Amino acid sequence: MIKLKKRWEISESEVTPESLYRQRREFIKAASTIGGAMLLNAWPAANASYRVGDYRKGVISLDDEITGEEDVTAYNNFYEFGTGKEDPRENSKRFMTDDWTVVVSGACEKPGTYGLEDLIKPSELEERIYRLRCVEAWSMVIPWVGVPLGSILRELQPTSAARYVAFKTLHDPVRMPGQQRAVLHWPYREGLTIAEAMHPLTLLSVGMYGKTMPNQNGAPVRLVVPWKYGFKSIKSIVGIEFTEVQPLTSWNMSIPREYGFYSNVNPEVDHPRWSQKRERRIGEIFKRDTLMFNGYEEEVAGLYDDLDLSVNF
Ligand code: MTE
Repeated sequence: MIKLKKRWEISESEVTPESLYRQRREFIKAASTIGGAMLLNAWPAANASYRVGDYRKGVISLDDEITGEEDVTAYNNFYEFGTGKEDPRENSKRFMTDDWTVVVSGACEKPGTYGLEDLIKPSELEERIYRLRCVEAWSMVIPWVGVPLGSILRELQPTSAARYVAFKTLHDPVRMPGQQRAVLHWPYREGLTIAEAMHPLTLLSVGMYGKTMPNQNGAPVRLVVPWKYGFKSIKSIVGIEFTEVQPLTSWNMSIPREYGFYSNVNPEVDHPRWSQKRERRIGEIFKRDTLMFNGYEEEVAGLYDDLDLSVNF
């Protein structure tokens, strides 16, 4: 059993004086009924298939300051919309995500095609403030809104044959013009072991900063695995498959020597072309030390007791 520290479990009501908390909830309720919901759902425009409304505000005692929303939504990696850091925001402006569905397949009792709101119940949304550490040695701190992936996977009833979970991004070179160039093996694919996928920190996210997920950050639904390098956090997911064998992943297919299946943040294992010991937090001038498992060692180290992390990078 993985015992999580209290910091992931406290709800806002437990730390905010009750009167204040209630006032806020009442305000949110009123706002959503009188059309003031736009306050919370201000972005992106009318095309989103999933809207973040009310959600349980998570309280996490990260000492780290939250990165500015402007940085998080303007400095992106999303090769389906170009390989430059500013490309995704620019090139995803007209990306329509309405009527989004996710195909669930493989070793589970409830395969099928799910509408997003059936898979991720809006009433179950919560906020999680996590560090995101890119393999390129920069990092951010982002307030995500989502649902623990494990709670969704359990509903789908994986069978005993399910040892891994594979994820796939939409493949549509018209809507995702970056896919017209063979910079990666499209569609973008990622995967986790079933234990990683079920871990309470792993989030399926539909929003950030209290709003619906911006296109450039992976609308309408993406994975967030905070102890792994950012490329494991696959965006714009259309497929979830329970598999018996370790699934193929796009970066590993492209450059297996540089990008392993696990890709846990590890300052002791350098990328073949650069050190992973330090990182640049976006918005800061001086580099800071990279933490083992991106600072989530206490929660996740137990997943890897039987693995040599220098070989299984
Ligand atoms: N998912 C898809 N489909 N395509 C991508 O190019 N880039 C990954 C990951 N998910 C990527 C993706 C990388 S390298 C990182 S660091 C994070 O998304 C960046 O997430 P952000 O742009 O929201 O910060």
